[in-house]
Amino acid sequence: MGQAEWAHDLARHLLKTTLPRRWAHTQGVAARALSLGPILGDEADTLTAAAYLHDIGYAPDLVDTGFHPLDGARYLRDVHQADDTLCRLVAHHSCAVNEALNRNLLDALTAEFDEERPELVEALTYCDMTTGPDGRHLDVTERLAEIHSRYGPEHLVSRSITASTPCILAAVKATKAALAAKTRDAPGRTTPA
Ligand SMILES: [Fe+2]
Repeated sequence: MGQAEWAHDLARHLLKTTLPRRWAHTQGVAARALSLGPILGDEADTLTAAAYLHDIGYAPDLVDTGFHPLDGARYLRDVHQADDTLCRLVAHHSCAVNEALNRNLLDALTAEFDEERPELVEALTYCDMTTGPDGRHLDVTERLAEIHSRYGPEHLVSRSITASTPCILAAVKATKAALAAKTRDAPGRTTPA
């Protein structure tokens, strides 16, 4: 069984019944990860697995600190002895350091989980931040606006997203550029004269 298949089954088990909308979002994020196959190569399975697992920290049984990237990553590390790359991607997805700072959990996050390679972290951020809460594809600006309207202006999540916006926009831009370059260079593609 590949990591993505294992991750799908675990995330479905943790989210489908208790948090069905979060499960719909998760499936949408995983679909976005699959669409990045041309730029991920051998790492497509890892990124798809991370997409399935990125929000499991919201599952009621896993909530500990209330900061879902850290709760999810710790669960993967401690309960499933998951691959380091998967744990790091979940811990740092979508520029989580800013919310960690606002929750006084930055030291714990960075002490326990190193950053993963920028291209992979950016790719997961791209997938998450171009997928709405019901799993539909959204432009990143629509997604940011949706988060602000869902939480309201004073909420810690909204303030953290504001701090993370440059990082999120840069991640989406970098991933789109990598995908466009790969598509442009694809064998068999002809350039108009
Ligand atoms: Fe998400």
